[in-house]
Order: sequence, then C-alpha cells, then structure tokens
Amino acid sequence: MSASDHDRVRQANLSPDKIMHKLVSLAKRRGFVFPSSEIYGGLSSCFDYGPLGSEMKKNVKDLWWNSMTRKHDNIVGIDASIMMNPTVWEASGHVSSFNDPMIDDKTTKRRYRADHLIENHIEKLRKEKREEDARRVGTYYERASESEDPNKAFYDIIVAEEIKAPDTGSADWTEVRQFNLMFQCNMGALADSSGIVYLRPETAQGIFVNFHNVRESSRMRVPFGIAQIGKAFRNEIVKGNFIFRMVEFEQMEMQYFVKPGDQQEAFEAWREERFSWYTDRLGIDREKLHWYRHDKLAHYADLAYDIKFSFPFGVEEIEGIHSRTDFDLRQHQEFSGKNMEYIDQATGERYIPYVVETSAGCDRLFLALLCDAYTEDVVDGEERVMMKFSPKIAPVKAAVLPLMKKGEMGEKAARFRESLSESFPVQYDESGSIGKRYRRQDEIGTPYCFTIDHQTIEDGTVTARWRDTATQERIDMTKAGEFLGAKLA
Ligand code: GAP
Repeated sequence: MSASDHDRVRQANLSPDKIMHKLVSLAKRRGFVFPSSEIYGGLSSCFDYGPLGSEMKKNVKDLWWNSMTRKHDNIVGIDASIMMNPTVWEASGHVSSFNDPMIDDKTTKRRYRADHLIENHIEKLRKEKREEDARRVGTYYERASESEDPNKAFYDIIVAEEIKAPDTGSADWTEVRQFNLMFQCNMGALADSSGIVYLRPETAQGIFVNFHNVRESSRMRVPFGIAQIGKAFRNEIVKGNFIFRMVEFEQMEMQYFVKPGDQQEAFEAWREERFSWYTDRLGIDREKLHWYRHDKLAHYADLAYDIKFSFPFGVEEIEGIHSRTDFDLRQHQEFSGKNMEYIDQATGERYIPYVVETSAGCDRLFLALLCDAYTEDVVDGEERVMMKFSPKIAPVKAAVLPLMKKGEMGEKAARFRESLSESFPVQYDESGSIGKRYRRQDEIGTPYCFTIDHQTIEDGTVTARWRDTATQERIDMTKAGEFLGAKLA
C-alpha cells in the first residue's frame, strides 16, 4: 500500500463532517486558525491565523512568490493599495457585473443564491434518478441564464419547481435581485456618494492600472508578468466550510502580458506550470487535483479553467487560470483616457497586450493543505494524528527534545536549539514523555525531531526522527543544520 493509499484508507473511514470537525478543532487547539473576534461571538466568515497558521501561510506565499518572480526573470512583483479610485471598478465591470442573483425567504429573512438553489435542485433530481426531470429543468436553467431577464426566469423556475430553502424547508420567496459583491465604504468627511470607495474584490486591477509604471520602471518587454499577493474582499452571502469561502481573503495573482495571438500558447504553458506547482512544490496528492473548464465565463474572460481540489465537502476551486483578452487594459484606456498600448521597440508594432491570469486563493489553498495533510495512523502501538505537510511549508521545521531537562544534557540541548533557530523555525520541548512529545510534533506536522540523549554527551550525536515513518537515524549534531537544509530544499 502506498503512503497516499494509506491516507485515503484513514480518511475514508471518517465522514466529511467528521474530518472537517477534527480539522477545525485541531486548527484552533494548535494555533493554526481561530475564529475572528471570538470573545465577542465571532464574525461570520472571518478568521484569524494563529502563530503556526501565520508561519505556514507565509511559507506558502513565499513559495508562490519565489516560483513566480525568482524563477522567471520576466516577472516582477508589486504591492498595490486595497482602495483605489472608484472609476477603476466601473472600468473593470465590477460595478455593473460583479453580481450574484439573490432571493430572500420572506418568513425567515434568509438570503440564498437563486442559481445555486436551481443547480442543487437539478442535482437532487439526478440523485433521485429522475433523469428526464433533471434534463428538463437543466434546459430551462440554461435558457434562463441566457435570457434578457434572468432574474425573472430564475424566479419562475424556483416557483414552478416548488424549490424550498435547503436549511428551513420554507418557500416564501421574494423576487430574484442582483446583489453586488463589492464592499462599499466612505472616504473623507462626507457620507454622500462622492466619497464612495470600494474594498478591492480582486487584486488584479492594481496590476492593470500599473501596467505602464511597472513596464517603464523595470524596463519590461512583452511577454512579461506582474505578480501580487494581497487581500481581496467580497460580500459573500453563501458562507461556510471554515476558511473555504471568506469575505476577507488573500489572493496570489499574476497577470502575464502577451502579444495578441500569443495568448493560447501562454495559456497552455501557464496551465501546465500552475498544476505542477501544486504537486511538485507543495507535494499535494495528484489524485486530489482536478481540471474544470468553465462554460459560463466571467465578464472579462474568453477561456477559463479552474484547478480544483477534493475537499471533504466536495471538489472545489482553488485557482483560476483565465484568458482575459485585452478587456481590462482596453477598458482602462477608455475610462482613464490614457493610452494603454505597448510599442514593440524592435518592430514598431503598437498593440494593447492580451492577458493570461493565474489567480490562486491563499486561504483556500491553506485549507486544501490541511485537508491533504490530515492523517490518522498507528505508530509504536499508539494512535496518532499527523499533519503530513511538505517540509517546505511545515510551520515548524524541527523540534529539539532533551531526554533530561537539567545538567549537561539540558545545556547541550539549549545550545543546539539556539544554533538551529538561527536558520529554521524550531520548537524546544522538554515536558512529558518522549512519546507524548513526538505526538505533539506529529500533530503540527514538524518533519524532524532531534532527541538529545546520553549518547549525545558521549559522542555529540543526536537522533533524527522522520515524522512520516517514525524511523530514526543518528547524526552528528554539528551537521544537523546541513541535514535539515538538504531535506527542505
Ligand atoms: N482575478 C480573478 C479572480 O479574482 P476568482 O476565480 O474570482 O478570480 C480567484 O478568484 C481565486 O480566489 C479563487 O480560485 C479562490 O481560490 C479565491 N477566492 C475567491 N473568492 C473567495 C472567497 N470568498 N474566499 C476565499 N477565497 C476566495
């Protein structure tokens, strides 16, 4: 049985709810993720990263940043502001089109996505083996989506099919209305519409509006890319599944500018590179990753694929790869009155570049990494929970565990920890039995435990225990940094 088969067997015994429950509890107990402002009862879909979570998230972001900007000498990074001139969002189409069709239940005052209600209804018909009904409603739904007035058409389907609210069974529906997902706030002293600014719903626009600034200051030539990591905000109505869908989240986006006509080739190359980043760099199980091609496209895209991950609650998107054409730069040219063309120095050609975008959600990826890593197994006759993180992203790289707190052993261990922590995040643990200390480290995914024992005093060696197999080898303590560095490369 391979290691990943073993994980699946372990996880297969647990229901999706149970796995999520265990993960949420571990995340809080060990300091990965806390509910936001918990002492006040929290805030829906908002979370805080704890000491281990913030360390691990930083590792993920660093890996992404380096794989974009260091690995490609034609990609540079920026850090744009969250609030921008509001015309940006008119030009990008977000003011007019970044909407979801919502319907309210008048009795319970709860709000739902109308399209999701219909999609779930079709799914339910399929599960009940009512294929013909599912096809019939599916055809209505397709027509409704493309009709002049999709809101009315969605409403008619919901009423005709007697679709009920999934959580309450009630069906006292309002009409369907479009609900804009952007958060609005007011800048300055006046609370009128002249001060409206938006919290950015994607980081991408900060890149588009800086196209010429970056190109000129960094002397970039097409094809080139601009990368950015930053917060984005969406007033999501459908929430849940822990940190999967949040109202405040982080994106890792890269916009790659190409000559019109070259976008297909760039799209395919980025598709391949991004997929293998998850398997080769992050060590995610290949079988848990899937491609999905969009039929319904966002207002800016002419081709879009998602990389999806098998979460315990279903197969869901973690990254989108979009061919955005010249939509954004052209729109900004029109709305700002500034020329967004690129002039090819060699040929004198002028054009507005096309864009291939890779857009990953850092928090969703974080959740995928938690789900992928969660393992229950038995070592030395004892059950344990292990987070099988790739050593590259593990928040703590090694633990130093002295068999005795005091005397020469304790002193050697303290010095050893000090020297290792110059280069690595290291934990020092001297309390409890050695078995308990191993379990504590396994549960947070620490790849290596170095134990200082009697032999260390005699010959300066320590045991190095590898988390996944619990196997141990003796190494010279002066070589431990090198040993660890090689394992993390
Ligand atoms: N610039 C393109 C763009 O924003 P998107 O597919 O809407 O595309 C990209 O978002 C990624 O951002 C998604 O694949 C997902 O990982 C993440 N994301 C989107 N909405 C999110 C939310 N409410 N909570 C957490 N992550 C989210």
